[in-house]
Amino acid sequence: MGTLRRVTSNPHRLPRTALPSRYDLLLEPDLAQASFRGHVVVRLDVTEPTDTLVCNAADLVVASAEVRTATGEQVGTVALDEATERCTVTFPAPLPVGQATLTMVFTGTLNDKLCGWYRSTYTDAAGEPQVIATTQMEAADCRRAFPCWDEPDFKAVFALTVVVADGLTAVANGAEVSRERTGDKVAIRFEDTIAMSTYLFAVVVGRLEATDPVDVGGIPVRVVHVPGRGHLTGVALEAAAACLAFFQGYYEIPYPGTKIDLVALPDFAAGAMENLGCITFRDNLLLLDPATSTQMEQQTLVDVVAHELAHMWFGDLVTMRWWNGLWLNEAFATFMEVLATDAFRPEWDRWTSFSLERTAAFEVDGLRSTRPVEFEVVSPDDAEGMFDVLTYQKGGSLLRMLEQHLGADVFRDGVRHYLRAHAYGNTETSDLWDAIESVAGAPVRRMMDSWIWQGGHPLVTVAVDGADLVLRQHRFLYDGGDDDATQWVVPVRVRQLAGGVEKVLLEGEPVRVPRLGHDAAVVANAGGHGFYRVAYAPELLEELRGDALAALTTAERYGLVDDTWASVVAGATPALAYCRFALGFAAEEELSVWQILLTGLRLCDRIVPDADRATFQAYVRTLVAPAVERVGWERTAGENDLRGELRGLLIRTLALLGGDAATVARARRIFGEASGDPEVLAACTAVVAATGDAADYERLLDGYRNAPTPQERLRYLYSLAEVSDPALFARTLEFALSGEVRTQNAPFLLNRCIAHRELGPTAWTFVRRHWNETTKAFPDNLIVRMVDPVKLLVRPADEIEVAAFFAEHPIPQSARTLDQVLERQRINVALGVRDGAALGAGVGALVR
Ligand code: BES
Ligand code: ZN
Repeated sequence: MGTLRRVTSNPHRLPRTALPSRYDLLLEPDLAQASFRGHVVVRLDVTEPTDTLVCNAADLVVASAEVRTATGEQVGTVALDEATERCTVTFPAPLPVGQATLTMVFTGTLNDKLCGWYRSTYTDAAGEPQVIATTQMEAADCRRAFPCWDEPDFKAVFALTVVVADGLTAVANGAEVSRERTGDKVAIRFEDTIAMSTYLFAVVVGRLEATDPVDVGGIPVRVVHVPGRGHLTGVALEAAAACLAFFQGYYEIPYPGTKIDLVALPDFAAGAMENLGCITFRDNLLLLDPATSTQMEQQTLVDVVAHELAHMWFGDLVTMRWWNGLWLNEAFATFMEVLATDAFRPEWDRWTSFSLERTAAFEVDGLRSTRPVEFEVVSPDDAEGMFDVLTYQKGGSLLRMLEQHLGADVFRDGVRHYLRAHAYGNTETSDLWDAIESVAGAPVRRMMDSWIWQGGHPLVTVAVDGADLVLRQHRFLYDGGDDDATQWVVPVRVRQLAGGVEKVLLEGEPVRVPRLGHDAAVVANAGGHGFYRVAYAPELLEELRGDALAALTTAERYGLVDDTWASVVAGATPALAYCRFALGFAAEEELSVWQILLTGLRLCDRIVPDADRATFQAYVRTLVAPAVERVGWERTAGENDLRGELRGLLIRTLALLGGDAATVARARRIFGEASGDPEVLAACTAVVAATGDAADYERLLDGYRNAPTPQERLRYLYSLAEVSDPALFARTLEFALSGEVRTQNAPFLLNRCIAHRELGPTAWTFVRRHWNETTKAFPDNLIVRMVDPVKLLVRPADEIEVAAFFAEHPIPQSARTLDQVLERQRINVALGVRDGAALGAGVGALVR
């Protein structure tokens, strides 16, 4: 595919005339001044005679550059290009082919945009402000910390020394090997890293504490955190130890570093980052008290720890050649995260809840503005845009589908083979298929190509013809897929409740499967692992009720609900019919199924006319009240964690979506007592916020300011977006920009404000008015996340207004994701226009 041509003609790609193999690096941060200076010696292999060396640098001042080669030393002239973030050093005479060392001296700023080498802050126990200098290099920001060849296939060894004020803690990719005092400073030297990509480089300096190391098969694992938080590190250490052991077993390759520090940071743009040996996190994803946190909060933490540890091999040891292959990294880590969490806490039934992530992928992938999982990347903005639901959730779902198709052991052996063959190297997607094919002896590449290189996914229809079931595929699109002839190689699993599971490969031609008895229920995505939706012929759908429903697995019931709701959004089923269908789940006991049922009902609540809202609420009570009754308000001895999470969800739903006054009153009473089960308390916090007055608001604000754990703090913060009083809501909007909310959280607070059912339009107006301010202050990756819920503004006038705004205010680093948000808004508006009135008129008949 002309890789070399593409590389050389792309101004964002460096020439390959010099290849770095080692960086000897000295960095000296000045925390008080928010600046740093540095010195780097890069060992290079010059591959053709040249008088220029081109590397990356951004927001740096490069004071000098000198080279030494076999023919002597030369001083170069430095030119920085802002647009391409390049540093070109030109020498008087050409450098000969062979070894060269380039020495550069530079200075830079610890920025507040949470990328490159940046400043994070906290207030210590004495009330003093403290600064942490910390890094986030992925995708293309290592160039903001030092001049470097900042592309993933320029792997090199990093030998780092940091010079810091005495008394500060410094951690980096490698273990500390020595420290030397010079005046009131200490030079801390770290061991050489393995050959790795620049995006994995990390160094963190500040007043920090570390836990004692936990030894995991010879690898010391610690949590590093701001002082006084050591009591919140237990779950992370336990999860990390379990996952590390799990991955060593799964990959059958030793961990590629010598130590692991898990670093909890007060300011962080992403969720966590897989820097080899020095994994960085948002603090709420690492520091937790199991006694006061919900199942979801704990699961998220374990997921994230597992995800980043999975990358130590898949990503760090073996790395994609370029960002088009990002999906391989992230999809695989997503898949492994679930596998490891499932092994660590089987009672969480993690593969079933993974259905929600598959749904998140379907939701975007059913739009015309979706993209193929693997996708061309030219610029750093393009690379940023790849961190989306298609890379993570669709990619992860496709790997799960493949694993289930091949068998878990065959898949794992293929992965082992791939990692061994490419250790310390870079790969293309096809390398993974080749490795799996060589152990599976089955064609994998042809099947996977159809999923990776084409956007979208199929709807598999199941019809009855005589004694057979007939399976066909066509593309699923929310706005109708009749004009699209895309085909996939679909591994379908058909389960007939009268018999077993049959595996068939659905390609171009329809496939016939003999039906076992003509009134037996059929599931056409058995186990729910396939990345396809299903539409049953009416007579087959008719069988999937009552006892047959109970005979499905949780994931299969989930799939039935999810696909039914998708057919509503796509205009194939009326919303009212969905509400009737949902009543068939009155006896449902499983969290995931309730979660997906309610996803549909929340959108119904948006499109139902105001005049019918009370009737719709009565319908919700009909559905949910018996379930609350069954689950109760109190934890019972020995119950599964998921039961607690379900309790919280149902209480919140009955109170707010169902508008149930007794439930509201009880929730407010429990919140007042301020102790008890975390799941119930979390639900009650939301209820109090949504129904509260100014005094309640003060309590929530106070909770935010003084919460003892990161999770409670966030619960209080985000509850401020739920208030119904317009004056209090306006306070929340101002609060988001007040400086009292970190820029890592403010976009999510505003996100929740825009998602407010009644006051969302007010929030949207506020965000529009403060657009320049927010886009300047908040991390670039969070801008599109902030505005995502505009898709829930479902009045036709909103659609026009939102589209007009973004025509004037593009989000270049998330252009495609924004297109998807806008397309989804159009689809939701169309749903409301089409179905809202009929839903309102008919829902009363479902109330009991
Ligand atoms: N490599 C990513 C972190 C990242 C994300 C860097 C976006 C640059 C841009 C990391 O492995 C990751 O995927 N983190 C996730 C959490 C994970 C558990 C899904 C994140 O940050 O959301
Ligand atoms: Zn990741």
